[in-house]
Amino acid sequence: MNISLIGFMGTGKSSVGQELAQNLDYKFVDLDEEIVKEDGRPIPDIFAEDGEDYFRDVETKVTEKIGSRDNQVIATGGGVILRDQNIANLKQNGIVILLQATPEEIYNRTKDDDNRPLLEVEDPLAKINSLLEERKESYQCTPYQIDTTELSIEEVVKKIEEIVA
Ligand code: S3P
Repeated sequence: MNISLIGFMGTGKSSVGQELAQNLDYKFVDLDEEIVKEDGRPIPDIFAEDGEDYFRDVETKVTEKIGSRDNQVIATGGGVILRDQNIANLKQNGIVILLQATPEEIYNRTKDDDNRPLLEVEDPLAKINSLLEERKESYQCTPYQIDTTELSIEEVVKKIEEIVA
């Protein structure tokens, strides 16, 4: 079985995913890292040189490849839900869990990171709010949802272990 973590940037998918994989003795796969491996360029360069649509195509290709394997904890990129096909690929061998956080918490967790081209704007908090609004419905593709705002990584991991038990 795969456990796929979806959710906006800064909701803890990668840090939670690594710890969860270690506890369960599953392989940890970070889809953003797989995209970088597949394409050969860092994410900001892909966006700057070829644009978001091209990035989404690579993301879809990689999600299809990884989703067909088994026994993995998969940390996805925040925009993976933009294509239904990706969600279907993640669900085919397992469960999808949504991690959430308030816009302010997301802002605090992402503000010192320059690896997220979508937030390289004058007012990142406003951008976070508008993207959250745009994606609200798509994130509802799973009933398993955890608000990580007030939780430690260990607490989120424990909740996921309860869900999959
Ligand atoms: C994106 C989220 C990023 C990365 C890319 C686009 C998004 O991943 O895939 O910058 O559209 O929300 P993280 O959620 O891991 O930061």
